[in-house]
Amino acid sequence: MKERHFFGTLEELEVGRFCIREIGKRSIGVTLHQGQPIAILNYCPHAGSPMCRGPIVPKLQINKDNTLGHDEENPVVRCPWHGWEFDLKTGIAVIPSRLKLAHFAVEVENNQIYILV
Ligand code: FES
Repeated sequence: MKERHFFGTLEELEVGRFCIREIGKRSIGVTLHQGQPIAILNYCPHAGSPMCRGPIVPKLQINKDNTLGHDEENPVVRCPWHGWEFDLKTGIAVIPSRLKLAHFAVEVENNQIYILV
């Protein structure tokens, strides 16, 4: 059964950057995307880097006219060690891989953020 842990307040979060805290034995990063907090394990599934130290950037996409563009609605987290990118919302790797970021459910109550671990 998952336990509910206080993480912080919404005011502490920033778009495009993780706020990192230790919850039990886990390091967890929380960021804001479209007004909603997203929580991931601060651990890259490839080789264990501190994933939340990597940048959150728009996903590259190929436009209909075959030019490169950015998908601002679907940002990715770029690993600070080897550059693999993972969809921020789903945790799925951009390159074909079975590896996926670990996400946590988040609850917000009166601007207080709780992580279910
Ligand atoms: S440790 Fe993250 S891509 Fe290698």
